[in-house]
Amino acid sequence: MIGDKKVLFSGMQATGNLTLGNYLGALRNWVTLCDEYECYYSVVDMHSITVRQDPAVLRKNARRLLMLYIAAGIDPDKSILYYQSHVSAHAELAWILNCFTYMGELNRMTQFKDKSAKHADNINAGLFTYPVLMASDILLYQADVVPVGIDQMQHLELTRDVAQRFNAIYGDVFTIPEAYIGKVGAKIMSLQDPSKKMSKSDENPNASIYLLDDADTIRRKFKRAVTDSEGVILYRDEQPGIKNLLDIYCACTGKTPDEAVREFDGCGYGVLKEAVGDAVVNVLVPLQERMKELEKDKAYIDRIIRQNAERASYTAMKTLRKVQKKVGFPERVR
Ligand code: TRP
Repeated sequence: MIGDKKVLFSGMQATGNLTLGNYLGALRNWVTLCDEYECYYSVVDMHSITVRQDPAVLRKNARRLLMLYIAAGIDPDKSILYYQSHVSAHAELAWILNCFTYMGELNRMTQFKDKSAKHADNINAGLFTYPVLMASDILLYQADVVPVGIDQMQHLELTRDVAQRFNAIYGDVFTIPEAYIGKVGAKIMSLQDPSKKMSKSDENPNASIYLLDDADTIRRKFKRAVTDSEGVILYRDEQPGIKNLLDIYCACTGKTPDEAVREFDGCGYGVLKEAVGDAVVNVLVPLQERMKELEKDKAYIDRIIRQNAERASYTAMKTLRKVQKKVGFPERVR
């Protein structure tokens, strides 16, 4: 707790370009949580180097992601938006927590298994201990709640286990975080294969809408979206392509699937695709305009980056010092 507010922590990787799926499924909801919680939103660049990155690209993407947080509507003077790598306590706590996490636990992580299969030539120790760094992110700020997607639930469970293990030995050091269960974000699927989640790492650019795609590109991608040969617009699992389009439409317009189905009753797929394209353009264009404004104001963004890293460090250091003392590191004498 900070004052009378609970603490919320979440982070996103700065790899690739954020998609409409990331926005409707996560980022947009982050904005609405800022009033109720004391929010920390990190650009987790340290996690990104568990797979090889081009340094210039990583740096550019990290800055862009931080600006997207702001463009999406998070107030950086209220919530804390920062780069993980600017707060050294993350690495320091991760080392300590590595010593409280078992190989067996990390071996069970399905994301590690998936990523090792995908990057067989670079199964590095960082990829293995990735969840420990994530636990450190969360525990440093004594977060009460963590909004995460289903794919990160296992990591959050591990965070809780490690925190409880540490507390059992040393007393009440860490707040045990809970998954944030609230209004769940829309789950947006690939436009080219509606059985797969829309992903920023998809090789096919037509599969995803990127947040910075221009209006023409957005409309074109929806025109090309894979549907089916049923020829009716119904909201059901048998028509995953249409269902996805309806989900996107509803997420952008606030309508319910029932309302949307009624609205498109008797229409062809082309009409639906056009309407979805328009709805998405209406949501993304204002965000892109804010982005353009922010890009012009380098000094403002630099100030946000500096100040928020300081604010984050202040809280993180408090936890880190406590942990260092508990495990027996010598006191600092002045
Ligand atoms: N691992 C998360 C992901 O890839 C990102 C992340 C890093 C995170 N640290 C976090 C999410 C702490 C929530 C809390 O999506």
